[in-house]
Amino acid sequence: MRSGAKAPSKAETVKRACVIGWPVAHSRSPVIHRYWLKLYGLEGDYEREAVRPEEIEHFLRTLGGRGYAGANVTLPHKEAALAAADRADYAAAEIGAANTLWLDARGLLHASNTDAYGFMTHLSAEAPDWNKGKLPVLVLGAGGAARAILHGLIEAGAAKILLANRTGDRAKALAKSFGPRVSVIRWEDRNQAHAGCGLLINATSLGMTGKAPLDIDLSTLPENALVADIVYSPLETKLLAAAKGRGNRVVDGLGMLLYQAVPGFERWFGLRPEVTPELRAHVAAQLGAQ
Ligand code: ATR
Repeated sequence: MRSGAKAPSKAETVKRACVIGWPVAHSRSPVIHRYWLKLYGLEGDYEREAVRPEEIEHFLRTLGGRGYAGANVTLPHKEAALAAADRADYAAAEIGAANTLWLDARGLLHASNTDAYGFMTHLSAEAPDWNKGKLPVLVLGAGGAARAILHGLIEAGAAKILLANRTGDRAKALAKSFGPRVSVIRWEDRNQAHAGCGLLINATSLGMTGKAPLDIDLSTLPENALVADIVYSPLETKLLAAAKGRGNRVVDGLGMLLYQAVPGFERWFGLRPEVTPELRAHVAAQLGAQ
């Protein structure tokens, strides 16, 4: 530093990020990022910001002024986050929503969506052969999570995706935006569609603690098919327990949550963090303590 130059204050050097949602108290993101900050001995902070929908635009415009290097964004603000960004990467633009934001040196707000990355990285780590034989994938759900997963599956080379959702029109709209590899089936037909599938994914909120159970019959699902759930609370959903019980390999929802956090942490704090069994155990213990 030049002699005479003012040393930056601690507030200027300590990097801060947050998760923005409404509500946001349930978010597990602080548990993950604070674990990494401590593990790597970084001076930084990660907070929760409860922001009302009518205030989100202003909040994001003033993110830097609030001392944040960036943020995660959760429901219901993911579309607003994309709209507020000066630059969006391919995944955010394709998914139409952003969950990770960061400011560059010029103060421009960048947006990414790391949900597809999170889901696919965990799937590939747990089951590298998930697309062997290019068998059809059955996806349940047509909300934001399903949209991110379809994007991830298509980018990774899934050949045929069957999409079932309670509200058929939502599934049709989603399928239309992803092209001919996605076909819609009726929600009532979800049990008949299992035969021949290599992978079944629950991308609905059904089965989550406090929500209705997922009503599904796995009896025609091939034994070597994989079953994945995006629900991570409980960690072993009824769907995963039933799949395990009949010998199917399972992929739980916690990995998606952990891996989606990696790119944001690297952007804000300058170090690519690792998803380890210790991190998993730490976050799982917090879920159990709810
Ligand atoms: P997210 O962005 O987390 O995916 P969402 O957009 O609210 O959240 O989507 C939730 C998904 O769970 C949807 O696919 C929803 O189906 P609808 O599109 O018909 O609403 C599904 N879901 C929620 N409750 C359901 C229920 N009781 N039965 C069937 N599907 C349900």
